[in-house]
Amino acid sequence: MMKTASSHASQSILDNLHSTVMVIDQQLCVQSLNPSGEMLFHISEARACGQHINKLVINEHEFYDRLERSLASNHPYSVFDSELLTHTGKIIEVDYMVSPLDQLAEQSSLLLEFIPKNRNNRIALEQELLNQQEASRSLLRGLAHEIKNPLGGLRGAAQLLQRELETDENREFTRIIIREADRLQGLVDRMLGPRTIPNKTPLNIHKVLEHVRQLVAAENETITIEADYDPSLPDINADESMLIQAVLNVTRNAVAAVSHNDGHIRFKTRTVRNQAIGNHTWALAARIDITDNGEGIPEDIKQKIFLPMITGRADGTGLGLSIAQSLINEHKGLIECSSKPGETTFTIILPLENGHD
Ligand SMILES: Nc1ncnc2c1ncn2[C@@H]1O[C@H](COP(=O)(O)OP(=O)(O)OP(=O)(O)O)[C@@H](O)[C@H]1O
Ligand SMILES: [Mg+2]
Repeated sequence: MMKTASSHASQSILDNLHSTVMVIDQQLCVQSLNPSGEMLFHISEARACGQHINKLVINEHEFYDRLERSLASNHPYSVFDSELLTHTGKIIEVDYMVSPLDQLAEQSSLLLEFIPKNRNNRIALEQELLNQQEASRSLLRGLAHEIKNPLGGLRGAAQLLQRELETDENREFTRIIIREADRLQGLVDRMLGPRTIPNKTPLNIHKVLEHVRQLVAAENETITIEADYDPSLPDINADESMLIQAVLNVTRNAVAAVSHNDGHIRFKTRTVRNQAIGNHTWALAARIDITDNGEGIPEDIKQKIFLPMITGRADGTGLGLSIAQSLINEHKGLIECSSKPGETTFTIILPLENGHD
């Protein structure tokens, strides 16, 4: 068939598009792929045509199911922030839209548009954030170190003075100095953070979570933590007390957030495949979600809660999350959070095995 001027123009548009456009038929076989798609999937249009979509995007049964349902129902749909594994073993992060074509014809087909996310950009951003947080942590550690020694001297001197003082009234003053010095000492110790080298052993993550659950139950009789565990989660090579501390810091915040209302906290564990952490992708990772139904994180501090000394509470020191993050970083993991009123989830991801760049 002779191509008209307008079909030439459409072809040229498709060829020059930055996003990927693909057409698949009722059997989910590729009918056409534009040059951007050839780059995204590392396959020429000639080789892709006639291949089932599962030869390009592998092991994504939910993805195939939805394509079939869209064909059957003639309904378009969009998916955002999706990660798809391609036949070259590469994971692509994309938003994609699926639209049924030829709705009146007997042989319907689907138009797929893939818009790649700029993953490099995201990694650079994450890295910058981590560097920033590391810089504030070391500033704080330096400061804490400087305070620590004179504080010890101050406390010792107050103790000596206390022995010399005759009246109880006067000794009350030295008692105040000692008490406040102890309080500062506690703060300074937390600012210095855990500096020990992790002692990693094979560990069942549920043992850590159960430990925290019992601690919290002992501290608060009114709050119960629901457990939704994936029993197939393999052991992880980790330092038990560091992980307990990290999970405890996050859970204590959840407890504080729900303590005024009918609070609910849930621990959920799952395995995740092909998890990207920084510029590394791990074949298998453990995911721990700690969810509460409190008021959510105040908007004005939402972007900086992992920085030290950022707190939304009158009695908070703002160190808990910063410490939790450095403990999780020690295990090459990541900690992130999503929050809206009534549902706040902190997610800890810990790699299990087989990383590749
Ligand atoms: N689950 C949550 N729900 C609502 N706000 C939260 C939650 N977790 C953290 N936040 C907010 O983030 C802030 C920072 O938490 P972080 O644990 O670092 O410090 P903190 O709890 O204030 O003090 P501390 O050093 O005693 O832990 C909290 O003060 C709180 O405002
Ligand atoms: Mg806290």
